[in-house]
Amino acid sequence: MTINQVLAIATIKSRKNKIPNPNMDAEILLARILKCSREYLITHFDKNLNNQKIKLFEKYISRRVKGEPIAYITGHKEFYGLDFFVNKNVLVPRPETELMVDEVLKHVTHSTQHTTIIDIGTGSGCIIITLAKKLKELSSETSELSSFNFFATDISSKALYIAKKNAKSRGVNKNIKFLCGNLLEPILNNPKNLKHLNNPQNPIIITANLPYLTPAQIKNSPTIQKEPKLALTASNDGLKYYRELFNQINSINLSACPQITLYLEIDPSQKTNISKLIKQKFPQAKFQIKKDLRGHDRLVKIFI
Ligand SMILES: C[S@@+](CC[C@H](N)C(=O)[O-])C[C@H]1O[C@@H](n2cnc3c(N)ncnc32)[C@H](O)[C@@H]1O
Repeated sequence: MTINQVLAIATIKSRKNKIPNPNMDAEILLARILKCSREYLITHFDKNLNNQKIKLFEKYISRRVKGEPIAYITGHKEFYGLDFFVNKNVLVPRPETELMVDEVLKHVTHSTQHTTIIDIGTGSGCIIITLAKKLKELSSETSELSSFNFFATDISSKALYIAKKNAKSRGVNKNIKFLCGNLLEPILNNPKNLKHLNNPQNPIIITANLPYLTPAQIKNSPTIQKEPKLALTASNDGLKYYRELFNQINSINLSACPQITLYLEIDPSQKTNISKLIKQKFPQAKFQIKKDLRGHDRLVKIFI
């Protein structure tokens, strides 16, 4: 069978099963198998494929038809122009999360102080690894940039395994300390790590894209049901983890830290409730909510 024929069969099968974008999905999966671009498939539509490749493609399409995300089938997802390994133990990095990376990079490139960056609920490690990689590249270009300590935590040891693997392939595994535990606890409970939070000279940046979907939102979205529940669901208002994180931050001796800036990803529907929560937990703090590229309220920036 030719490229054109296998793509046509796969598209019909996916369309029958109401999978969105069946053409594009089939092309992405076949391009991955043939290790070529999607453009190559179009220009070589009459090329014959061997049986082994056809069988593998059919297997991929059967998984896709069952609703498995493309990224889990290929094992890869691009985030901020970098390739990340993903599997069913981590959330597939979302394009809207790139906004958080943009904002942190803008913030730190104006600073000359030694900064500690902590990513809570790191998953595949996409946020902290991208920051470490981009800041490493920038530091080699300019000697004026501040130096950094990078930490990442996750409650899932399986997710941390993937994050460490990604850090290694991006060449930043020696720069980031990965810790397993509840939110900030692995740092707060270990004096060696805690000392980074208690140095009045060092600003702290905390990034967190914690589970923020309500059970009702998950129920209404069949595609995300294939991703780890631990990565997605929070309480009925979706703010359970942010509430707990705020309590943990309030347990730190804040007068000993010069400045903490928090970057949190939210669902647009949580704008009012997260604003109330911030005013309640950090009455002195200033905060802003930024929109993503689709115009949805997505990123909360809190200056404590
Ligand atoms: C929405 S995913 C985000 C993953 C990654 N940061 C990203 O942006 O793609 C949330 C992550 O938080 C982790 N998580 C859930 N509860 C946690 C907790 N109590 N403490 C630390 N991490 C937690 C999950 O295992 C999951 O990896």
